[in-house]
Amino acid sequence: MRTSQPRTIYLSEYRVPAFLVDHVDLRFELFENGARVHSTLTVRRNPEYPGVAEHLELDGDSLKLESVSLDGIELGADRYQDQGDKLVVQAVPDKFGLNVVTWIEPQNNTRLEGLYKSSGMFCTQCEAEGFRCITFFPDRPDVMARFRTRVEADREKYPVLLSNGNDVDRGELADGRHFVTWEDPFPKPCYLFALVAGDLVLKQDTFTTCSGRDIDLRIYVEARNAAKCDHAMDSLKRSMRWDEEVYGREYDLDIFMIVAVDDFNMGAMENKGLNIFNSSCVLASPETAADTAFQRIEAIVAHEYFHNWSGNRVTCRDWFQLSLKEGFTVFRDAGFSADMGSPTVKRIEDATLMRTAQFAEDAGPMSHPVRPSSYMEISNFYTLTIYEKGAEVVRMIHTLLGPELFRKGSDLYFERHDGQAVTTDDFVKAMEDASGRDLGQFRLWYEQAGTPLLTVRDDFDSEAGIYRLTIEQAIPDSPGQTSKNPQHIPFALGLLGSDGTDLPLRLFADENDAPSERVLELTAARHEFEFHGLSERPVPSLVRGFSAPVRVDYPWTREQLIFLMNHDGDGFNRWDAGQRLAVDVIQALIRGDEEGVDERLVEAYRSLLSDPSLDQALVAKMLQLPSEAYLVELADSADAQAIHGARTRVLDCLAQALRGELLECYRRNGDDGSYQLTPEAIAARSLRNTALSWLLHIGDREACGLAQTQYQDAGNMTDRMGALRALVNSCFVTEREAALNDFYQCWQDDPQVVEQWFSVQAASLQAGTLNHIRELLAHPAFDWKNPNKVRSVIGVFAGQNLAQFHQADGSGYIFLAEQVCRLDDSNPQIAARLVSPLTRWRKFAEPYGGKMKQALASVRDKEGLSKDVFEIVHKSLKE
Ligand code: PHE
Ligand code: ZN
Repeated sequence: MRTSQPRTIYLSEYRVPAFLVDHVDLRFELFENGARVHSTLTVRRNPEYPGVAEHLELDGDSLKLESVSLDGIELGADRYQDQGDKLVVQAVPDKFGLNVVTWIEPQNNTRLEGLYKSSGMFCTQCEAEGFRCITFFPDRPDVMARFRTRVEADREKYPVLLSNGNDVDRGELADGRHFVTWEDPFPKPCYLFALVAGDLVLKQDTFTTCSGRDIDLRIYVEARNAAKCDHAMDSLKRSMRWDEEVYGREYDLDIFMIVAVDDFNMGAMENKGLNIFNSSCVLASPETAADTAFQRIEAIVAHEYFHNWSGNRVTCRDWFQLSLKEGFTVFRDAGFSADMGSPTVKRIEDATLMRTAQFAEDAGPMSHPVRPSSYMEISNFYTLTIYEKGAEVVRMIHTLLGPELFRKGSDLYFERHDGQAVTTDDFVKAMEDASGRDLGQFRLWYEQAGTPLLTVRDDFDSEAGIYRLTIEQAIPDSPGQTSKNPQHIPFALGLLGSDGTDLPLRLFADENDAPSERVLELTAARHEFEFHGLSERPVPSLVRGFSAPVRVDYPWTREQLIFLMNHDGDGFNRWDAGQRLAVDVIQALIRGDEEGVDERLVEAYRSLLSDPSLDQALVAKMLQLPSEAYLVELADSADAQAIHGARTRVLDCLAQALRGELLECYRRNGDDGSYQLTPEAIAARSLRNTALSWLLHIGDREACGLAQTQYQDAGNMTDRMGALRALVNSCFVTEREAALNDFYQCWQDDPQVVEQWFSVQAASLQAGTLNHIRELLAHPAFDWKNPNKVRSVIGVFAGQNLAQFHQADGSGYIFLAEQVCRLDDSNPQIAARLVSPLTRWRKFAEPYGGKMKQALASVRDKEGLSKDVFEIVHKSLKE
């Protein structure tokens, strides 16, 4: 634990490493009471290092050092210093072999960084700085080495022994032990190292690459999960094909392995040839996993697989460049998901995440650029900004260059930097060199934090037939950054005529064949565009497809929004218009400007519900009211209860007025018995479950019966959970309790399903009271050591249950602060993620804001606070 104030690391301090490591030879002796790690490094001085380093410095964390030898000779204690977080070996030659033996205790590792145990198996997590918890090493991504790893363990308990690359040797040892040796031919940074030892079953398949090589695909899971691997395997094969077709990227090793582990801090990890997954991101069957889980698995399997090129073959120079691999890889997996399902729906989901959560982060105390320039704890920078905004930035390059030049750019990037550790700037440079475009100003997207606000105004000169659009951009101040420069923003635009069709966008009076959609490029603080040859005032469709991660201020009338909902040629903007309309109606209720719910909203929803000729996947999305989190994000000073109350009123009103349509929609979208993952089938399930939840929301007796029947008869988890969720959020107490009990009885042995059972209660207005949350924490299935359980109860309550978490007496905040302090001792990464709802205290009106701040201060005052939580809490409380 920390003794002094944590140090801030700056990008400007970057220096090339003094020493390089060409080879790493590892030998792991795994035992129940600990593990001995023998590491032999082939080290040489880095010719590019300015000056001469006398000492070799290696990073370490929680290691017990047993011995150090240099070129085969054990060093006396006077030749090195074990400083705990560093091993300094003095006066080293230019080239040498260094052998270090350390003792570690994986069985007591609750941080889940380095080597640890999860449900009886050994596994590792090394990104970002976990390798130093295994052995002393230059733990930085620009040191790339070839790894050879020998794993030794008890044969009975750990029949499967895995590491990166290819298995090159195996054999028996004394005392019922055995070993396997792995060799990874590709040099890699140590954060991509992985090891697994356990009693696992293997699901196998093959993939023939574009050049005709057969790849051995293996998914390792505990025996009880053997039947839940098919979807991940299919997703993997589709990802491999897609990356060949869309990016020309072929897989490079002979084996590709995935291992599922129950205890994992994040979603999954792209270790070379041996991806390790959180069980919840790989295991699925229609009976146990809902559609959202199937889609998440497909996306994450693809994401980790795509990292093999964007991350592993070309990696990051330092952790400030994290978005180099994450932003690009999220962009790649988004393209894949769009191609596998409905592109419009995928775009809606991504934009929703951006606008709800990333914009909030960008406007909060932890706001940072896509390429940050300082951090205290790198684990805190696996953020929506690095991942999601980073992906949006790559997407804008794609929009500016067009698909062909973008592909030329990515080819050049992979070719030029294969085997290197590079920067986001190298990525942009490759895009520039391949396309001939100047992305100089565009680079500000990487350097400036904050969400640009575009203020759009228009007027129409009916005499001249000219429509004028003025667009101003402003980027708000953020911690450490003020007076920002205008950014280069691709602004996709359409103009609709009164018949609902797209009009030609003539930027010059004499322009023939003008396109009906344009991407305007904003580079100045203010632009004025003129569109000629118009006979009527058009309705503008702005930032189509969310062409840039910006906020837009335009004085839409409700008529215009309804018109766009019905006619916009861009599906995304049809959805967006519906959201803006609903937001406008809800905000008017919050302000007290309007007494009741605008009839026009009801009618707009009525037409969505009752026109089966519309794209049902889009309709299913359009029917979702803006979330409470989004309404908070849009507010200047959020009154949590008022937001909840107004949104609830709108939902009540819609459900009452549309009862007939909802029942009809429910029937029309009945289960046909098969389970398919097409956009149509997913939309049908979403529609029937939305209808059900709305009807139960207003306490409809008939719908309660439908929900009970659906709960009993459901052929898949989407419908079973849909019915359970509707019941849990309803006023039917007996029915709700019966369903919850039955569900637990049926599924108590399946951790992924129990997590869903926790979440549905933690998110519920009815069942998610603070007292009930405390009961869930005391439930035998709850486990403080398992991050998924912690997230499914505490994370869901604080992040998704606005009304129960934001109690005016502050009890929800005090509760969260207590749990954060408790977790900080065992798993600081999880504690730091959990505290985030409190960091938004400035966003909330009184009494909420002040009480959130108090709770945050109580965390700050905890004895021995981890660096992870320290950074977040201190930055959030800073004046
Ligand atoms: N690199 C992983 C991914 O994005 C995420 C991760 C980070 C996992 C740190 C574990 C620890 O795919
Ligand atoms: Zn990633």
